[in-house]
Amino acid sequence: MEEKILVLDFGGQYNQLIARRVREQHVYAEIKPYNGITPQQIQQAGYQGIIFTGGPNSVYDPKSPHYDPAILELGIPILGICYGAQLMAYMAGGRVDSAKDSSEYGKTQFYTSQSLLWKGIPESSICWMSHTDYIAQAPESFRVIAHTDKCPCAAMCDEARKLYAVQFHPEVTHTQFGKQILTNFLFDICGCVGSWKMEDFVARSIETYRRKLEGKRVLLALSGGVDSSVAAVLLHKAIGKNLVCVFVDHGLLRKDEADFVEHTFRQIFDLNLIRVNAQERFLTKLAGVTEPEKKRKIIGEEFIRVFEQEAKKLGKIDVLVQGTIYPDVVESGAGDASTIKSHHNVGGLPDVIAFDEILEPLRELFKDEVREVGTQLGIPKELVWRQPFPGPGLAVRIIGEITWEKLELLRQADAIFREELEKGGASANQYFAVLTDVRSVGVMGDDRTYGRTIALRAVTTDDFMTAEWTRLPYEVLERASSRITNEVPGISRVVYDITSKPPATVEWE
Ligand code: XMP
Repeated sequence: MEEKILVLDFGGQYNQLIARRVREQHVYAEIKPYNGITPQQIQQAGYQGIIFTGGPNSVYDPKSPHYDPAILELGIPILGICYGAQLMAYMAGGRVDSAKDSSEYGKTQFYTSQSLLWKGIPESSICWMSHTDYIAQAPESFRVIAHTDKCPCAAMCDEARKLYAVQFHPEVTHTQFGKQILTNFLFDICGCVGSWKMEDFVARSIETYRRKLEGKRVLLALSGGVDSSVAAVLLHKAIGKNLVCVFVDHGLLRKDEADFVEHTFRQIFDLNLIRVNAQERFLTKLAGVTEPEKKRKIIGEEFIRVFEQEAKKLGKIDVLVQGTIYPDVVESGAGDASTIKSHHNVGGLPDVIAFDEILEPLRELFKDEVREVGTQLGIPKELVWRQPFPGPGLAVRIIGEITWEKLELLRQADAIFREELEKGGASANQYFAVLTDVRSVGVMGDDRTYGRTIALRAVTTDDFMTAEWTRLPYEVLERASSRITNEVPGISRVVYDITSKPPATVEWE
């Protein structure tokens, strides 16, 4: 059986990061909410090790997440992190206290004493702390193996039972030797060998789906985004023309994007692709609509309708593929742990299309892993590294009513900005142009003009939940502004958006 680690989620903000850090070391990690699996199920599943995540609670709070102490007796190595460390102390009979003057936040010096967990790291180094409660007394069978100036027990272990606990967060990069600590836990304590490789995932998936889907008709909504593109090529390699991909061109894509998607999948991969040119339909539905959420709703509903019509033409569909990825599946253990988010761009499809089964070939993978699979499948860089693009497309980047003329102006301005940013060697995680509804006075030759205003937006972010506006070089902004006002008719002013998120969102609508 393949080796794997269980990340038992107690609601910590870094739960997904922990799983990613484990997988980066080629050990497969699964996140399960603490109330979603019993010790018996854990034993049966054959995990090599368990990690208790952090969490926002205090172990003495009656509402805080607890766990059956039988887990400590399974003989499976456990690493408790932050709240997980305190919980382990509490479960094993130690004492956890809360004291304001013992709380630590941020980079903290810590001092270690001999333990397998510290193999290859110096006696003193920096870790990332974020806690108020602390382990005031380690349980009887445990030994304190690290402390800080404020915290008497920054780490502890019971070597005989292979139980380890660290008050700090080894998974964040601010912890100087965090990676080494996790390596020690995975390889020296749990005995993993690091056999989880993306090549294997690709080969195994192709083989599995080839067998499982033999003779079946499989349908996929291809958006040209990373997830649906990777899912499409993966399944195409498995079942060839039995996979039908429907690509709805709603007319709200960026310059040349629809042709690029069609060309890539038809010419390079020889996919069984149906392109639906539904630009008119969408524009008609959107006529006169200015309210952002209404635009989103109309586009979502119309998308489903178009897709449904195409699916009906195809006759009986056995399997519907969705591009769901791991972060869509995993919700925090602190909330309703069993909630599963539907993939936001194709969320409504299962309700309207008759099929026997849903298949989510990427549901185990994080975004960076999906990109790696895409690269291995030979998908062009432009697609694999494509920046996020909202499902409703340019509709949420045109303030006010959407018309074909405005879409064409925005497409040109947006293409110029992206080209200049990339040519100028600048980098941002998302960058685009917005067509505002502001008109302003300008001059051109001897004439007074009254043209439209384009706003440029570029953000730097890890997760798009928060974002900084990107400090782009003035030369890039200058060239973009000058080209847009010269080359795009009707644009007489260009402004740069210098708002971070929060308070602003990334998109303008
Ligand atoms: P905001 O504007 O909410 O954007 O700060 C965060 C990220 O989400 C993208 N976004 C969307 N994606 N449908 C999508 O598929 C949408 O309706 C939508 N709205 C925003 C946005 O581009 C950014 O990456």
